[in-house]
Amino acid sequence: MKKVIVTGAGQGIGLEVVIQLCKEGYFVIWNEIDSSVFKSASLQLEKHSLTNHLGILGDSSSELFLSDLAKTINNTPGTLYGCICNSGITTFGNFLDYPRESMDLLLKVNVSGTFFLIQFIAKLLKESKSKGSIVVTTSVTGHQAHPDLVAYGMTKGALIQLVRNLVVELSPLGIRINAISPGATLTERTALIEDFEDQWTKITPMGSIADVSDISNAILFMLSDNSRQITGQTLIVDGGWTSYSPPPGSV
Ligand SMILES: NC(=O)c1ccc[n+]([C@@H]2O[C@H](COP(=O)([O-])OP(=O)(O)OC[C@H]3O[C@@H](n4cnc5c(N)ncnc54)[C@H](O)[C@@H]3O)[C@@H](O)[C@H]2O)c1
Repeated sequence: MKKVIVTGAGQGIGLEVVIQLCKEGYFVIWNEIDSSVFKSASLQLEKHSLTNHLGILGDSSSELFLSDLAKTINNTPGTLYGCICNSGITTFGNFLDYPRESMDLLLKVNVSGTFFLIQFIAKLLKESKSKGSIVVTTSVTGHQAHPDLVAYGMTKGALIQLVRNLVVELSPLGIRINAISPGATLTERTALIEDFEDQWTKITPMGSIADVSDISNAILFMLSDNSRQITGQTLIVDGGWTSYSPPPGSV
């Protein structure tokens, strides 16, 4: 049985990835920082009668998480195969007023947390001489300019380059690394943004925003051997928006 880690997985895209991976027979170690979200995700997985998983409550960008993860990997069934680096926080803000505290947190969770998690997984795969596959969740805002998302977009652009660059070091180890850039996707979080679905539906060439399964289907493809000759790539899943790119409110 292949074992896969998914971070930021208590709701939204991450939780859907956990459900799909469990259904496909992977053993999944998933993570969530918020304890109430963690509990509700555990209940949802129980409702789906899925037992081939274990959750770790904690901050995926912390050292403590990596030490908990090392223990959990040792104490659970299956052979380590990969990781979905999905934790990410979105902060909106105008460039001229953007506060340093928000930047520090954004860089820690989105960039350095992802960097060191990939480093940790790659070392384990190297030690065990196992091949593997890593998928990073980026964003269309890492490809296109977008109002009030300069800081967030910068972090996602950094991840796109991280994935491209790591081909040099991970390919000789037999580890593939790719990214998925979601466009507007309906999740518990985005449902709270005023007019999110209506506005993005109007400006998405395919005429609808994504649901979480649209993104997780792409993530599972990049994780699996179906994409065995693909590495260093970022797949955009956005109903065509980046080819056109009008901002919300412009149509
Ligand atoms: N939903 C979208 O429209 C959209 C679009 C583009 C990119 N993305 C990216 O997809 C990923 C998932 O987004 P989403 O909207 O499904 O989920 P979300 O923003 O609701 O976050 C998912 C979960 O991650 C948890 N989390 C946040 N920081 C964490 C940390 N440091 N450690 C562990 N857990 C943490 C949150 O508590 C939340 O439950 C993110 O990286 C996001 O940037 C989402």
